[in-house]
Amino acid sequence: MPTPVPPLALGGDYNPEQWSSDVHAEDRDLMREAGVDLVTLGVFSWAHLQPALDRWEFDWLDRQMDDLQAAGIRVDLATATASPPPWLARRHPEMLPVTQDGRTLWPGGRQAFCPSSPVYREHALALCRALGERYADHPALALWHVSNELGCHNARCYCDVSAAAFREWLRARYGDVDRLNDAWGTAFWSQRYGDFEEVLPPRIAPAFPNPTQQLDFLRFSSDQLLDNFVVERDVLHEVSPGVPVTTNFMVMRQTFEMDYLRWGREVDVVSNDHYLMADDAHAHRELAFSADLTRGTAGGAPWLLMEHSTSAVNWQPRNRAKAPGETIRSSLAHVAHGADAVLFFQWRASRAGAEKFHSALLPHAGTDSRLWREVVQLSEVLDSIEEVSGSRADNRAAILYDYEAWWGCELDSHPSIDVTYRDRAEDFHRALSAAGIGVDVVHPGSDLSRYRLVVVPTLYLVTDEDAAAVAAAAEAGATVVVTYFSGIVDESDHIRLGGYPGAFRDLLGVRTTEFLPLVEGESVTVEGLGDAGVSADVWAEELELAGAEAVAHHADGPAGGRPAVTRREVGTGAAWYVATRLAPDGTDHLVERLVAEAGLDRLPGASADVEVTRRVGNDASWLFVINHGSEDASVPVTGTELVSGRSVSDDLVVPAGGVAVVREEH
Ligand code: GAL
Repeated sequence: MPTPVPPLALGGDYNPEQWSSDVHAEDRDLMREAGVDLVTLGVFSWAHLQPALDRWEFDWLDRQMDDLQAAGIRVDLATATASPPPWLARRHPEMLPVTQDGRTLWPGGRQAFCPSSPVYREHALALCRALGERYADHPALALWHVSNELGCHNARCYCDVSAAAFREWLRARYGDVDRLNDAWGTAFWSQRYGDFEEVLPPRIAPAFPNPTQQLDFLRFSSDQLLDNFVVERDVLHEVSPGVPVTTNFMVMRQTFEMDYLRWGREVDVVSNDHYLMADDAHAHRELAFSADLTRGTAGGAPWLLMEHSTSAVNWQPRNRAKAPGETIRSSLAHVAHGADAVLFFQWRASRAGAEKFHSALLPHAGTDSRLWREVVQLSEVLDSIEEVSGSRADNRAAILYDYEAWWGCELDSHPSIDVTYRDRAEDFHRALSAAGIGVDVVHPGSDLSRYRLVVVPTLYLVTDEDAAAVAAAAEAGATVVVTYFSGIVDESDHIRLGGYPGAFRDLLGVRTTEFLPLVEGESVTVEGLGDAGVSADVWAEELELAGAEAVAHHADGPAGGRPAVTRREVGTGAAWYVATRLAPDGTDHLVERLVAEAGLDRLPGASADVEVTRRVGNDASWLFVINHGSEDASVPVTGTELVSGRSVSDDLVVPAGGVAVVREEH
């Protein structure tokens, strides 16, 4: 019988088809040496499993499953549908994806399929079923891994097959074409449709394509990809009951096409891939935010870090190698934010192919390398903290996050290209984390009743219900803070009239009659947050008070003299509005006031460079400390530090670059 995923598993993608059998034997020995106990097998194996339409070759995979089992290594078995083999595209060129400007994406890379292609689906499901039936009872099997990073390269396809599927999706959403005309505002620019058959995906057009058409196409595309997961999952549930099914998300700053907060409801366990960007000097902050968002997609449950890198990747313009200790820090950071497994792409660095310069657990240099020694050390660290597995966060602050708001916010033809969706969310997350406040990142429609502080960043598009839930949270005693370009449109991307920010105007007690976006490079001064003025850029508003009090003012710029930050008492809580893009020190000052007002408890020892989180179990709690800075950090905590095995009494010193996990004594 299959067995569960090991607690705090260590491992990665294993691609044995790239190597000969003597290497396989060495792989297993070295996996044992490194403490690897879970590998993801078969992600890109379709062409090896089915070399031709009527030829199947499972022997090699049978051997792998048996040998891994004998070595005590569990398998996250992929359905291998991520990249169709060349013979399939040759038979069915109509399954290839097409870009917005009409170019076909050919085989030769990977993921060359249209997510709406019935041909692709038929063949993918046949493969999925064959694998499901063959390995359902294999003792090495711990988890099913559907496809791989669905939508990584083919998230939006504009081909004729997709166009027909889009029309079906629109028929289901709107019923008749006049409702679509209303929702899309087609009275504008002579876009009125007489029949669904006239509707196309938003292909390259002479002028801005209709914004609601673009928004619906993003919704449709996310739904189509999710459907690719759901149909495979359903086959696996049928033939392999009881074995959890996942697909690896890509929750990170660069990836916006998939609505993972919806997808999270469909997987048995959330897994995520995360890579640091070399040009981000504070990449660990983006990691922390993404990991909290990943936990949000899992509804707060533990999740699996399916992929990250031991060192450099190969797909950025300049691929920075991780500094000594960085792999352990990033791994522990994911665990600190709720991951229960630490897996990598990939086990052994490839000799050939497009990813031969991507780092791995086992580098080209072999085991006599700093990287390998760090992997072995990571394995020891994970073993020492295994008891945290299954525990959760217990936070009282939330950042509301919504992929539809992201899509809407960053459409073209807007007031300023500099208003981007994740920007404010990440800055509040940074400031709260530095202040020692643990944060959940959740959908606006979730239960907000546990939160004392609710941050609503750039929620451009919001439904009536979600806006009402935010107001209800303030009524019930929470401190709510809304930032600019929130509540502007409804779900059809229609402006909420009567003054901005329409959906939150009454709650906030403000009324903006005109946006005053700043020009590139312009910065203004805001007074009233700290002792000195703080700078702000990107955005300002012609804002009038309508029940709120001004907390801070613009000293200059197009909104000179007007309120920049406001506050209104609401029920037993309060609603704040931030009408400009504060520089980080401005956000820090604001967050200090919000945290004090909300009466939030702080995690000990947190600062800009020292990341601190707490995971809570049934009868224990663990404080994670990750020191990203260049100076030793001192943390007032009492308990047992698990990595060193030492007791600490109110004075834990975490060296520069070091990590610590303390089982707390209360
Ligand atoms: C992921 C992908 C892996 C590998 C990795 C490299 O996007 O799932 O197969 O390509 O990136 O960083």
